[in-house]
Amino acid sequence: MQFRQLLPSPDTVELAQLLAELELGQDGAAQRPLTVANFVASADGRAAFQGRSGALGDDGDQALFKGLRTIVDAVMVGTGTLRAERYGRMISDPDARRRRTERGLAPEPIACIVTRSGAVPTDTPLFQQREARIVVFSPSELDDREASAAVELVRLDPGELTLTTVLRHLRSQLGIGSLLCEGGPTLLGALILERLLDELFLTIAPKLVGGGTSPTISSGPELPEPQPLALRSLLERHGSLFLRYSLR
Ligand SMILES: NC(=O)c1ccc[n+]([C@@H]2O[C@H](COP(=O)([O-])OP(=O)(O)OC[C@H]3O[C@@H](n4cnc5c(N)ncnc54)[C@H](OP(=O)(O)O)[C@@H]3O)[C@@H](O)[C@H]2O)c1
Repeated sequence: MQFRQLLPSPDTVELAQLLAELELGQDGAAQRPLTVANFVASADGRAAFQGRSGALGDDGDQALFKGLRTIVDAVMVGTGTLRAERYGRMISDPDARRRRTERGLAPEPIACIVTRSGAVPTDTPLFQQREARIVVFSPSELDDREASAAVELVRLDPGELTLTTVLRHLRSQLGIGSLLCEGGPTLLGALILERLLDELFLTIAPKLVGGGTSPTISSGPELPEPQPLALRSLLERHGSLFLRYSLR
């Protein structure tokens, strides 16, 4: 799929090529994975419409969403998103799984779920995927009796359950070098607050949502100061803007 590149230099680029050239998580000595987030927002700043994000994006946004999954070791998601978006198989395209193994990755990224309440929606289709590997960070037991996926529970005391602890565990115990946060806003807000985010992929969709109660892409406590970002690239396709920022 082709995109118009506006920055760093005007060009026409292939998404597959861009993804193949993205190097994420090469620092073997790091104490946590390189962590990127991918979100779509409406032009008026909302991260969902009627409770879900699908109506905001288009096939370009979907291609980036799926494409980023193909290059990371793990995907992290909060229970709100898991529930709202009814997560299924991480990578359904066999060619994409083959390309991952050719790159030395597992066929599919590990799904990493965090919860404080312990109420994980194990009826989500992802839990029925035999090939899926899921790691749940929770302060309580998990009822995964019906799950076909390989589910690992990492129990942490409520006081210990920070994303800093979670990311260190992913790095040191599971060897995760690159982590993609797919949301939602509560999880992204916590990642930003704990200063764990390295890059933000943000799609601005050419749509307005209006009022309502849908969140913006991050929520939770305000930062002491606004966090500056550096724009690394800007793509355009059918009026959508695809920004790649790194945190300074
Ligand atoms: N536009 C986009 O790109 C995009 C992306 C993702 C989601 N969304 C939308 O966002 C909405 C969901 O928002 P949300 O904020 O509820 O989603 P969320 O961040 O996925 O889920 C929030 C829940 O995740 C758990 N969680 C989050 N941060 C945690 C932390 N630091 N430690 C432990 N647990 C943590 C908690 O689960 P417990 O309650 O179980 O303790 C929390 O209630 C949906 O409408 C979805 O469609 C949009």
